[in-house]
Amino acid sequence: MKNNSTNKTAEKLFTAIGKLCGIYFDISYHGLKKFEVKSFKLWFNFIFFLMVTFSLTYNYDFLVISSKVLPFAFTQGVIAFLVKMPWLFYFISFSLLGIFFSFPLYGLREYKKIKAYQKDFDFLSMKAGNGSPPKVIRVVEVDEFKTKVILKSEGIGVDRYTGKTNDLTSALGQIVEVIKPCKNPKFIEFHLTTKSLPSKVSYYECEEENIRPYTFTIGESLGGFLTQDIATLPHMLIAGTTGGGKSVFFKQVLVSLLKSTNNLQLYLLDLKKGVEMRPFEDLPNVRVIKTEEGAVTVLKNLKDEMDRRFTYMEKHKLKEIDPKKHKIDKIIIGVDEASVLYTKSKSNSSKNRLIEEARELTDELIKLSRAAGIHLILATQKVTKETIDTKVQENIGGRMCFKMNTLQGSMTVLGNKKALSLPDVKGRGIWATGNKFVEVQAPFLSEDELEGELSALVSELKTKYKTFHGPMVSLKEVKPDQDINIIDTPDEKESGEDLSPE
Ligand SMILES: Nc1ncnc2c1ncn2[C@@H]1O[C@H](COP(=O)(O)OP(=O)(O)OP(=O)(O)O)[C@@H](O)[C@H]1O
Ligand SMILES: [Mg+2]
Repeated sequence: MKNNSTNKTAEKLFTAIGKLCGIYFDISYHGLKKFEVKSFKLWFNFIFFLMVTFSLTYNYDFLVISSKVLPFAFTQGVIAFLVKMPWLFYFISFSLLGIFFSFPLYGLREYKKIKAYQKDFDFLSMKAGNGSPPKVIRVVEVDEFKTKVILKSEGIGVDRYTGKTNDLTSALGQIVEVIKPCKNPKFIEFHLTTKSLPSKVSYYECEEENIRPYTFTIGESLGGFLTQDIATLPHMLIAGTTGGGKSVFFKQVLVSLLKSTNNLQLYLLDLKKGVEMRPFEDLPNVRVIKTEEGAVTVLKNLKDEMDRRFTYMEKHKLKEIDPKKHKIDKIIIGVDEASVLYTKSKSNSSKNRLIEEARELTDELIKLSRAAGIHLILATQKVTKETIDTKVQENIGGRMCFKMNTLQGSMTVLGNKKALSLPDVKGRGIWATGNKFVEVQAPFLSEDELEGELSALVSELKTKYKTFHGPMVSLKEVKPDQDINIIDTPDEKESGEDLSPE
């Protein structure tokens, strides 16, 4: 009888120890998973603190005080054992004890988060065919509003969750933005947010944010509207798969810039036969170039204009051009569908010569033009070294990346997969400057609104109140003995248009 009850007690004890070990390893596992090189310093400080604390206990008086506070742990026998220990052995044992406890302590927050999300998912009572429920395996706090939860969900597909989005939203208390399978289809990724971006933002909602010259709106972020001064970038890339919103974004940037100041000249290289940029053609301070030949000629003339500006700056000991003070306009070179201008074809060698020239000129311009008040905006679907030279990519300060359909696409523009995880919302993108990445809803300006804005600008530029300094850079080839900076007479503008195909 007695043997039986002793066996039962031992069994219970072993089960309890087993459970405790299970919890210890579970929590420690989360601690270890979180462990990164950058968190090493924090961990080291923590261990060091524990080591010092434990070392202080190598003192008889301290142990006596401890026995008063924790009499069950510091019994006479324990105290006698500890004081007999050599200091080094004592120190090593307690340091190992510190390390032993550091991992669960480190992983406790993560463990608590996972358990909380598990409880929320359990509310849905979703089960696979064999009765096993989904298991939360990872929770990543993306920023102050967004969380990514990864679920091991064998036998429960994405469709079953999408069908329960409303239930999920109420169980989690957060908006479910994205539900998609991971690379390993046994796992499913949920993107949750406490605050969501609108699916459309009108250009006019953001307009009042652009009050400073040369400033435009990037879009609405969770932290409010973002604006950008082109001078501080100094060059920008707009990327994303077809239909993501590149051209709409590009055009609203140009309208904002044109409205923000008088002293601006735009050279728009649109090799898709000028379809996108056609509405800008009526403005006296805008030139639209539609052919490779025209693009190379204008890039050459702009490069000469840059050199002329540097000579001026050297003569007047200036660090950079101030459009108001020096009465020289800022220049924006905009290239829509940059890959058409910069990608060589396998067969057409005469076209390839032009492309090579355009690549070299762009490279020279992008390296030096900031001080001369010349900025580049490039829009493209794909970013590879074949479409945009790596030297050009290195000099781009701001990147607006709309949805990308491939990991490689997102990686080449942003260096991470943020553009791949974007929800399927037109005009939704990631604005990247340096190491900062912000999700934004870009302003929407319809074609009718664009036409209206541009015709108002045309009328304003006809009055003496809105005039740019000029002259515009020529669209025609300039002979070496000719002054490169020729005022574009109506005749010349006509001939500029002649460069484009019928
Ligand atoms: N910011 C936005 N908000 C809402 N809808 C938008 C926004 N931007 C674009 N769209 C919608 O998406 C459509 C495609 O946009 P856009 O032409 O700018 O795409 P794109 O990226 O330039 O495509 P492509 O690579 O084919 O030229 C637009 O006609 C418009 O209806
Ligand atoms: Mg486009």
